[in-house]
Amino acid sequence: MELSRKAEDYLESIFTIAREKGYAKIKDVALFLEVKPPSVIEMVKKLDCKGLVIYRKYDGITLTQEGRRIGGLVRGRHDAIKAFLEIIGVPEKAADKNACTMEHELDPRTVTQIKNLVRFVRTAPDHPEWLEHFETFCKTGEHTCKKGRE
Ligand code: FE2
Repeated sequence: MELSRKAEDYLESIFTIAREKGYAKIKDVALFLEVKPPSVIEMVKKLDCKGLVIYRKYDGITLTQEGRRIGGLVRGRHDAIKAFLEIIGVPEKAADKNACTMEHELDPRTVTQIKNLVRFVRTAPDHPEWLEHFETFCKTGEHTCKKGRE
């Protein structure tokens, strides 16, 4: 199913809110995406027509199986890209914001490699040495490892 970037953002935010609270209300999504409640209602109705959410005025929004699959997929991309950006030294807020743009645009192979790198760094027994060298390089423009100077 071809979804607009905006539709993906809604599914992602409903997924994220529901993961924490178990359900999502129109006002939760409005706060999360910094939009007005009527905009949320409009989009949620469209997503309901597509079979991605179930919207009942008083019960709020529930994701269908397919809606949960897409929301989870986008959220997974977001988390991986954000982690990657933080690894290369982007401050958390900017990393979060940029992850939300990049999550819609990247080739799946790029996302896979970003995920691999994040896992590689996170599962390293210590803080990886090359990462420390990179951090110093960002500050000083100098290679601190001998191999880099040879
Ligand atoms: Fe996002």
